[in-house]
Amino acid sequence: MNIFITGASGYIGGSIALHLMKSGHHIRGLVRDAAKAERLRALGIEPVLGDLDNKQLLMQEAGNADAVINCASSDHRPAIEALLEGLAGSGKPLLHTSGSSTVGDAVAGKSLSDKIFDEDTPLIVAEGKQARYELDRRIIDAAGTMDIRTVILCNTLIYGTGKGLHPDSVQIPALVDHARACGIVQIVGPGLNRWATVHIDDVCALYQLALEKAPAGSFYFVENGEASLADIAAAIGKRLGIAKIEGLSEEDAIAVWGLGRARYSLGSNSRIRGIRARKELGWQPQHASAIAWIEEEMA
Ligand SMILES: NC(=O)c1ccc[n+]([C@@H]2O[C@H](COP(=O)([O-])OP(=O)(O)OC[C@H]3O[C@@H](n4cnc5c(N)ncnc54)[C@H](OP(=O)(O)O)[C@@H]3O)[C@@H](O)[C@H]2O)c1
Repeated sequence: MNIFITGASGYIGGSIALHLMKSGHHIRGLVRDAAKAERLRALGIEPVLGDLDNKQLLMQEAGNADAVINCASSDHRPAIEALLEGLAGSGKPLLHTSGSSTVGDAVAGKSLSDKIFDEDTPLIVAEGKQARYELDRRIIDAAGTMDIRTVILCNTLIYGTGKGLHPDSVQIPALVDHARACGIVQIVGPGLNRWATVHIDDVCALYQLALEKAPAGSFYFVENGEASLADIAAAIGKRLGIAKIEGLSEEDAIAVWGLGRARYSLGSNSRIRGIRARKELGWQPQHASAIAWIEEEMA
């Protein structure tokens, strides 16, 4: 297939692009930086220079592709509207990368939630994450209203080394970078909160399965395991040889990582079970432990 991927220079998009190329697919990748475009070309990805605000370009690329995968942003609604418009009436697949911070609770690391969500559980969505949740709904609805085979892949905390230009994910690298800069592993509060996790290689395998056979309008949580932020911090400390681990107040954490990441990502619970992908698509994730990856493999 000719596949148009946004976020081709990023962690998820780059990894998926290279993974799909191995199966013989041709990838056109959106990239907003000319130097990165040349680096993508060297990897065999055909660069499309532009950004998510370029409606005409996105419509045109979507219209010409056999399939579209959005990996640039879980939140950029105008870009999604443009891709939907370009695909309208085609029945072609649109895979959208969402994230499970939609169910993140703002506990500032102070408690473990007993709420565990799967695809059949009504979601509890914090006010700050309503827009992402509504965008997911919009994309699912477009399966029926616009005749597009839309699929939401709602990722949990992704770990592992990416395959493309940007090898680092979001949450663990943010903690690692900060720990290396200040010599202390800092987290939000005591880190009693837990996140569901998944390895990037298993993510790539699931996107491929979804591309091949997910029904229109489907939603999958992407999960294989869970870890508390305290255990992640301990593993980072062990890997970096840093003994001191410290819990920041939410206010201090926001100053370090920004509001969205400190509150709904590093300081929240996001406890998920990805049941449907296993049942419907036969997904069999191979990597089970973010902690083992940090301690044994993380660069
Ligand atoms: N990593 C995770 O654990 C995880 C889990 C769930 C959801 N998500 C969500 O998935 C999305 C992608 O995550 P990621 O980890 O792959 O992030 P990433 O490595 O930062 O990749 C984002 C990619 O999108 C591109 N991009 C961003 N804004 C753009 C714009 N306005 N126009 C054109 N390109 C743009 C970036 O281009 P540049 O190279 O030019 O910056 C980059 O290639 C994010 O919304 C993230 O919140 C991530």
